[in-house]
Amino acid sequence: LNLVVLVSGGGTNLQAVLDAIDSGKIRNARVAAVISNNPKAYALERARKHGIEAVCVSPGRFSARCDFEKALLEKVKGYRPDLVVLAGCLVVIPPEMVEAFPNRIINIHPSLIPSFCGTGFYGLKPHEAVLKRGCRVTGATVHFVDAGTDSGPIILQKAVYVQEGDTPEILQRRVMEEAEWKIMPEAINLIAEGRVSVENGKVKIKDYT
Ligand code: GRF
Repeated sequence: LNLVVLVSGGGTNLQAVLDAIDSGKIRNARVAAVISNNPKAYALERARKHGIEAVCVSPGRFSARCDFEKALLEKVKGYRPDLVVLAGCLVVIPPEMVEAFPNRIINIHPSLIPSFCGTGFYGLKPHEAVLKRGCRVTGATVHFVDAGTDSGPIILQKAVYVQEGDTPEILQRRVMEEAEWKIMPEAINLIAEGRVSVENGKVKIKDYT
């Protein structure tokens, strides 16, 4: 499975994927390139350290949003990916990209969808909302990307308990450690094994218990 990973920030989810490939937890996949919209993303550094092509397509270099989106799509297509992985990617994926890769783009979201997702729930926002509502449980979701925001078929979810004294930052970290860094590599491996399909808008995983 040829992967292209889109990032915007620190890249800890990218790191989890790279580690899982190295340790054999993900079999049959390689990262062809890491693409960031943000030139300062530490994720680019992580990719380079791993000997992986790291490129930036910055919206600032284009006068119109659609030109940036076109350039990003062309860049991604150039690597002929079987799967596009959004790992902390803050770019709203344009419809042309979704159409070019139907059920072949996955995203990680730091909440249990359909709670605390959609436009506006990025970064610390879902965790702030979880604490504000007094939820006892939150978690993370890996899903296919469709035309909406965080609305595509759900592949994997993992729950994480909220604890007394949690701040949004503490909770964000625990959701990453206990959920995101596990279900993202697991979802990629399941897809690489050819066990994931979408039927009537819902994900089926072969022999998954
Ligand atoms: C993660 O919380 C992810 O769920 C969200 O953005 C964050 C990215 O972190 N979409 P990193 O860049 O993978 O460290």
